[in-house]
Amino acid sequence: MRLSLYLLVAIGLAEAHCVSVRYILNALQQELHYRAILLVESASESEPCWEHKYVQGAVPVLSFNANQSLYLKNAINTNILALVCLNGNEGRTMQAFYENLQDMRDTPTILFVLSDSEVQDVFLECLSRKMLNVLAFKGSNKEIVYSFRAFPEFQIIKRNVKDILRYFEPQLKDLGGFSLSTLPDNIIPRTVVSRSPDGSRQLAGYLYPFLRNYVSTINATLRICWRLVPEDGPIQLGEVVRLSENHKVDFPLGIHGLEHGSTSQNVPLEISSWFLMLPMEPSLPRAQFFIMLGFEKLTPMLLMLTILLSSAHRIEMGLRPSWRCYVLADRVLRGALAQAFFLPRRLSFNLMLVYALILLNGFTYSNYATSLLETWFVHPPWGQQICSWEQMRALNLKVLIVPSELNTMTKALGREFVESNSDLFELSDSARFQDKRLAMDQSYAYPVTFTLWPMLEHAQIRLPKPEFRRSREMVLIPLLIMAMPLPKNSVFHKSLNRYRALTQQSGLYEFWFKRSFGELVALRKLHYKVDDGRQSYRDLEWQDFSYVWLGLVAGSIASILVLLGEMGYHRWQSGRIQH
Ligand SMILES: *[C@@H]1O[C@H](CO)[C@@H](O)[C@H](O)[C@H]1NC(C)=O
Ligand SMILES: *[C@@H]1O[C@H](CO)[C@@H](O)[C@H](O)[C@H]1NC(C)=O
Repeated sequence: MRLSLYLLVAIGLAEAHCVSVRYILNALQQELHYRAILLVESASESEPCWEHKYVQGAVPVLSFNANQSLYLKNAINTNILALVCLNGNEGRTMQAFYENLQDMRDTPTILFVLSDSEVQDVFLECLSRKMLNVLAFKGSNKEIVYSFRAFPEFQIIKRNVKDILRYFEPQLKDLGGFSLSTLPDNIIPRTVVSRSPDGSRQLAGYLYPFLRNYVSTINATLRICWRLVPEDGPIQLGEVVRLSENHKVDFPLGIHGLEHGSTSQNVPLEISSWFLMLPMEPSLPRAQFFIMLGFEKLTPMLLMLTILLSSAHRIEMGLRPSWRCYVLADRVLRGALAQAFFLPRRLSFNLMLVYALILLNGFTYSNYATSLLETWFVHPPWGQQICSWEQMRALNLKVLIVPSELNTMTKALGREFVESNSDLFELSDSARFQDKRLAMDQSYAYPVTFTLWPMLEHAQIRLPKPEFRRSREMVLIPLLIMAMPLPKNSVFHKSLNRYRALTQQSGLYEFWFKRSFGELVALRKLHYKVDDGRQSYRDLEWQDFSYVWLGLVAGSIASILVLLGEMGYHRWQSGRIQH
């Protein structure tokens, strides 16, 4: 027991004294739990940086030289650790290495600098290539590990391996007031650029608090690149991304659909869809309510009832059934209209039951019709709804759209569709488009995503009847993931993704989104639509009953004709009897 304890201590001391690659790899396994190792070596003929037997072990090893590069991001879906040996021709080696780590530059990396290049220069280049998780050993000395702090100022840190608790310190915990830049796309409601009363420019929209808060959680400050933002009107996000790459902006502020020309570094923010918002169709005129009560469905039933009932009467009197039923039409009609009728003589129980059922049916139907009418007078039903592109064409309604969105639409719905319906689209510049859509100008239909639509819907809640509705039939892209595009290899990608998950789980994102409606109203970009009196309540008028009058007149004329016919028939009959 004691012997083995001595042995353990002795081995521990021995290992601590002579720090080897294996010792470091073991410690890193504890810290990072990496599942694969990527080796990049400059020249295999010169002095090696590590003994291969130390590296070969439990995890798979990918070994590349300076001439080999691959887009590993698509091939590797696990934690990896990269070891780079700079023992000659380091420019080429580092280039190959950067290409291998395209879009995964946050991979923990250890550089073994055997050549005479300075650690500081190598680190500075790593930083310019957006690699923050880098350690270095200089020469054959494995006792001193170099690392650097990127923010707020570049600073090399030298540590003794034996004292280290954590090799890779997080770089993005505290940026010490480092200034990060953003470029808003000025697409309402996500980012809204305006001027404050004192003339300075200001930013609103729900993506702004989202980003501002992120930047403050990492203790940085946010600078808005005003000189790149046009005074009026939005910039397309593609242009924002391009400008951001050119001017080294950290956060292009805007979101776009993931499927269309996106960079690989995206932070998905919303699940949305892209559909048309249509001007609300006018409601039906009141006079038409009376012919929508379903009389046409009732008539065959009445006819059948009358035939059955007259046959029953004939059977009761001992005659054969017949289809002639004119004798009873009057009673069935009265029963169906829930009017009382009287029977001159007592009938059998079965027939009474039939009459009672007719009367009950009549009550039900008349109640149904009355309640339907009452509902319709208060909430008029819509006239014919627009459900297809053909109907839009027939009504001469056009879709106002900006050229870039028309391109997106062409991708989504196919060139054939867009070309055959090109008469339905009217192109417009984005400022006019935004103005008209926000003002909810009813002369056009507009494509809209689920980002803006809730705001427009909310702006209409003070109207008795909304002016625009969301089309359920004309959906351009049913499922759209809206994401914020970060510059290539952005160092903030993972951290911003984590932050995004937190804000969404906590409901903060939703809160910012809802609050931005009030901001837009305060900035006069959006306003509550109010009823201008056109659609206010109106009493029933004479012409509302036009179909009722028509029915009454037609019925009266028919009755008079029938009466005259009956009298003539009676005359003719009695004349025949006298002869
Ligand atoms: C890389 O390619 C160059 C020629 O293109 C060759 O001279 C060199 O030996 C190669 N290096 C390695 C490590 O294969
Ligand atoms: C944030 O950065 C400032 C320097 O600008 C520093 O004084 C402060 O301690 C930092 N705050 C935190 C919480 O780290």
